[in-house]
Amino acid sequence: MPQTELTPESALPKPSLLGGSLKAFREDPLTFMNELHRQYGDYARFRLGPKSFYAIFHPDMLKEAMVTKSDDFCKAGAFDEIKRLTGEGLVLSDGKHHDRQRRMLQPKFTRGHIQRYAEQMGISTRSLSENWAEGQERDLTHDLFRITFDIMTRTLFSYDSTTRLEQIEQAFDSINRIATDKIRALIRVPLLIPTQQNREYSAALQTLNEIVYGIIQDRRAMKGGERQDLLSVLMEAVDESDQSVMSDKQIRDEVLTMFLAGHETTAYTLAWAFDFIMRRPDVEEKLVEEWSRVLNGALPTAEHYPELVYTQNVVWETLRMRPVGYITGRTAIRDTRLGSLELRRGDSLMISPYPLHMSPRYFADPETFRPERFENDYVRTLPLMAYFPFGAGPRSCIGNHFAMLEMVILLAEIGQHYVLRHAPGHPPVVPEALLTLAPRGGIRVTVKRRSS
Ligand code: HEM
Repeated sequence: MPQTELTPESALPKPSLLGGSLKAFREDPLTFMNELHRQYGDYARFRLGPKSFYAIFHPDMLKEAMVTKSDDFCKAGAFDEIKRLTGEGLVLSDGKHHDRQRRMLQPKFTRGHIQRYAEQMGISTRSLSENWAEGQERDLTHDLFRITFDIMTRTLFSYDSTTRLEQIEQAFDSINRIATDKIRALIRVPLLIPTQQNREYSAALQTLNEIVYGIIQDRRAMKGGERQDLLSVLMEAVDESDQSVMSDKQIRDEVLTMFLAGHETTAYTLAWAFDFIMRRPDVEEKLVEEWSRVLNGALPTAEHYPELVYTQNVVWETLRMRPVGYITGRTAIRDTRLGSLELRRGDSLMISPYPLHMSPRYFADPETFRPERFENDYVRTLPLMAYFPFGAGPRSCIGNHFAMLEMVILLAEIGQHYVLRHAPGHPPVVPEALLTLAPRGGIRVTVKRRSS
């Protein structure tokens, strides 16, 4: 296995004394990770400010880190800014607490269970897109945010977010922007110090807290048994070891975790999918053929999903080239080893699927958008961690089936009724690595009704 420390001979900018590789990472983490992989092979060590990280690129080492030796790692320390928002929710909690929460929530996210949400996914999409005016220019990313948020709040929490939508959007926008800034900064000003940015962050948190505690209180005021959604699971769950129930704070943490993890990811993936489709008439033609054959104008449902094979492959290919969950972290909680790499307790890993997804070793002609490559269960022929847009192992995405069903339904419903084109003079859309992989500056489109 090649050895690694980022050296001055590297094509990447020479690490600075103070910041290490922070500048290159901050400017373009995808290219940075790709370059590390290209130059150093299986793993590389680099520094961001005072902190060192190992980037891991070999599928077997990744499998150890995320699956077979996942008990040797935790998530603590990686994203403290986000933890202010999500607290001990599923994404950033660790140990027994995480295991218990995951065990409790998992049954509500199985492929079978989430099928019941398909109808609402179709209804939200249709009601929020059916009034798009002919020839109108629209902010597609924003529209997709609204639809995915509506779907998530209605299906998981039976909550109609429309009345508070602008406030919610503003709060998420502030949090996303500021948390990204803080994660990438060399010196982080603690949130308790009242800088303008910190005040904005705290105000955004307060808005979301108020909304979520309101949802919890409204539900407590209802007599039991009226709802069968995720919120009731959280509120009724009893810990068998001590018969305790979740506090409002614990419920709030899980609700905000789902808010954060569950709508921006799908909205951005769909924005990327439309971006690819608009640039590829051959892909669009195949999609339109599939939509008219399978749907013929009907609202897409869970029954249609297995037949929308090409649409699914468009989503898989989008997730290959634009894995919105482009980076995650782990910290070793004991001395351990990945392949021949010895890790000490406290060592940090930086993990990104992007370099593997773009490797010609696993994907021929990786720069070309080609949904057909996913035909015939292609991924099953690859090593386990060559393609992992939803992560892997016990910390893999709990919402993967929800996300796939939602994205296929949304893509098919909008696509069967509208022809989208980049607005005149639109610049090429490039990725911006925020908390998730966003299209920089959003995507503006003109919409036209698709003739039948
Ligand atoms: C395109 C859509 C999505 C992508 C690409 C995605 C990606 C990911 C990835 C890569 C992870 C693992 C992170 C790690 O290993 O550290 C993750 C975790 C998670 N995702 Fe998603 N996600 C998506 C949609 C969703 C949706 C719709 C929900 C909820 C409705 C959701 C909820 C979660 C939660 C709760 C976790 C933490 C699981 C745990 O640690 O036990 N995600 N997601």
